[in-house]
This record gives sequence, structure tokens and C-alpha cells, in this order.
Amino acid sequence: MKIHAAILTQPNRPFIIEQPDLEDPRPGEVLVRIAATGVCHSDWHLASGATQHPMPVVAGHEGAGVVQALGPGVRGIKTGDHVVLNWAPACGSCFYCHHNQPNLCQTYLDPIWAGTMLDGSTRLKWNGKPLYHWCGLAAFAQYTVVPQQSCVVIRPDVPLNVAALVGCAIATGVGAVIYTANVRPAQSVAVFGCGGVGLSILQGAALAGAGDIIAVDTNPAKANLARQFGATHFLQANDDTVDLIRELTAGRGADHAFEAVGLPHVQETAFAAVRPGGTLTLAGLSRMGSATNLPGSIIARQEKTIKGSYYGSVNPPRDFPMLLDLYMAGKLKLDEMVSHQWTLDQINQAFAQMLTGDVARGLIVF
Ligand SMILES: NC(=O)c1ccc[n+]([C@@H]2O[C@H](COP(=O)([O-])OP(=O)(O)OC[C@H]3O[C@@H](n4cnc5c(N)ncnc54)[C@H](O)[C@@H]3O)[C@@H](O)[C@H]2O)c1
Ligand SMILES: [Zn+2]
Ligand SMILES: [Zn+2]
Repeated sequence: MKIHAAILTQPNRPFIIEQPDLEDPRPGEVLVRIAATGVCHSDWHLASGATQHPMPVVAGHEGAGVVQALGPGVRGIKTGDHVVLNWAPACGSCFYCHHNQPNLCQTYLDPIWAGTMLDGSTRLKWNGKPLYHWCGLAAFAQYTVVPQQSCVVIRPDVPLNVAALVGCAIATGVGAVIYTANVRPAQSVAVFGCGGVGLSILQGAALAGAGDIIAVDTNPAKANLARQFGATHFLQANDDTVDLIRELTAGRGADHAFEAVGLPHVQETAFAAVRPGGTLTLAGLSRMGSATNLPGSIIARQEKTIKGSYYGSVNPPRDFPMLLDLYMAGKLKLDEMVSHQWTLDQINQAFAQMLTGDVARGLIVF
């Protein structure tokens, strides 16, 4: 069928709205009508060339929608189910899946980074040629075909537009705190970057019972938002940031720092803001091929730990329903995270606004 989708033809070009063809789901695949897709900085990394990917591609990886049709052999999902899309369609049987690290599953990585479905082919075609799927989701489109492992069935009483946020920002941010970093009650936390991911880290820190929660952003307009999501202090990023964080933490530095921007110099500042014996967790994704200068002499002498966090170390089928239960119980703010909504036609404006730093999280709503 013909669908409306936002296509990137090459880096540093705008998204174009076109009507490519979407084939029926093959074995193990599911056709989903998208309700909303979040505008995440990771999509922008494709548009800017910071993340390399086959093109033309339909981006969008923070989606939620309603199941329309099933390919042969799909189990545990039925037409009409509400689903949040999972961008790490783990196989359940590789080394990483067996070691409770489904976010690192080795089986999905090759086809997903080739821009295809798990069988190595695309369901999308444009002008008769393959059109690639970002993360196997291609969610900046009215309809999508995804691997069944990408469909996490959710309770139907959660509005689908806010449910979409759980598919990336919320899972990544809350998961980074409670799983990757394992923040304990009363610990101090510094969070660099207050976009969708950083604000979710703040929420995770509040949920974990952290003590001082210090938010840092270049944009002073993020101060009120950061406080709304759990920050006890806000600092506008500048040359004194590390000194100010030390002042707020008895001169030591924070027990935990999180980088949620994706810039090497911010990763280096966040490292300096961690106390001896503390932990730096990197959630921001820096440009492919970039390098970060972290001093080995200090890492060893001060026993600082540096962790990477991919998808918040979550297990989506286990954690998406849990996060939505927290939302329904009033313990996780999702409605308040949605500061902007746009139509698919407005997608270039959506990313331009995200880049100003004024957006908490924005959604493309279908
Ligand atoms: N690890 C993962 O699995 C994962 C998942 C999703 C997103 N990400 C990455 O997380 C990062 C953040 O994504 P997002 O969607 O929240 O982005 P965003 O654009 O919504 O937010 C980024 C925020 O960082 C602020 N900022 C910019 N420069 C800064 C600086 N020097 N110091 C402090 N703050 C600064 C901006 O003002 C903005 O508020 C991106 O790199 C994205 O690719 C990683
Ligand atoms: Zn696996
Ligand atoms: Zn994302």
C-alpha cells in the first residue's frame, strides 16, 4: 500500500514527505498504524551525518500505535493491540540475551544497521528501489511493518501519544539511572543535557530516591522544566559548571554524573564533575568516529567508573509495561514531557525547534 512517510535521501538535506510503498508483513512481522512518534536527537544524528546509515531511509524510532495485521507465525500479538515499538528487537537466544543484556543482542544488530528487516530485505520501496528502515521501525510514517520482537503490547488505557515516549527517551533515561548506574537513595546526581533523555534521567533519579539532583543545560529555559522533573538545582552550562557542582556536593563532586547530550567535551566535563569513587554514565551518543579524552591517570587513582548506557540497559517487554504502570500510578510524568506536537508535514520545523533546546519532548502525531 501507499503510505505517507518522511524520507531522508542524504545527510544534511531536509526530510521530504513522500508516498512510498509498504509491503505486507512477512513471517514474524507485524503491520502497525502509528499514532505518534517522538522526535529524538538520535534521528537528527542521521540527518546530520553524525550516525552513518544506508539512505534513502525512513527514520523515527520512538513510536506507538495499533496492530493492523500479522504476518504468518506471529504469536502473542493480535489485531487491535496497542503497542510501543522497541528499537532493539532481541532474539532471546544469543550470548547477550542469555546474559540479561537484550539491548546488546548480537542477532539484530547486523540487519538493523543495514537498514533492513531481520531477514535482510526491506518492506519499503520508493520509485521501485529499496527504501531503508531506521531501527527496523521507520516510524515517521502512517503505517510501518516491524519485527514481532519490536512490538511490546501495552495496556489499552494509556494514551498512545504519551506511550510513544517510553519507546526511547523514557526507557533510555529512567533505565540509565535504575539499571545502568544503579543510583541508590540519597546519592547525588548531576545530569548534563535536559532534552527528552536528560529529563527522563532526572525523573529516574527522583524515582530512585536520589538526594541532590543537579541539572545542567546550555539553555536557561530548561530550568523550570528540569525542576518539574525532579532537579533540586539547575546550572546553566559554562566554564564554572564543575566548580559549582563540587560546591553543591561538599567539595567532592557528584556520586553520579550522566551525559545526555552526546558531545565529547560535555562527556569530559561530566567526568570531572564525578567524585572519586563515583560513576559517570554516558547516555548521549557522540558522532561516530569521534573520541573523548578521559584521563587514565585520574580514572585509576580516583577509582572513577565510566559506563556506557544503551537503551538504558532495559529489557523492553519487561520494562515498557512497568514504566506505563508507574505513569498510571502518577509516579512517572509523561503528559508533562510532551511540550510540542507537530504533523508529519512539519517534521523539518520539529527538528529545528528541538535543536534550539526549547523542547522537552516533541511528537509527530498522525
Ligand atoms: N544511549 C541511548 O540509547 C540513547 C537513546 C536515545 C537518545 N540518545 C542520545 O541522547 C542524546 C540526547 O538526546 P535527546 O533526544 O534528549 O536530545 P535533545 O536535543 O532533546 O536534548 C539535548 C539537550 O542538551 C542540551 N545541550 C546542548 N549542548 C549542551 C551542553 N554543551 N551542555 C549541556 N547541555 C547541552 C540542549 O539544550 C538540549 O536541552 C543524543 O545524543 C541522543 O542521540 C541515546
Ligand atoms: Zn539475542
Ligand atoms: Zn531515541
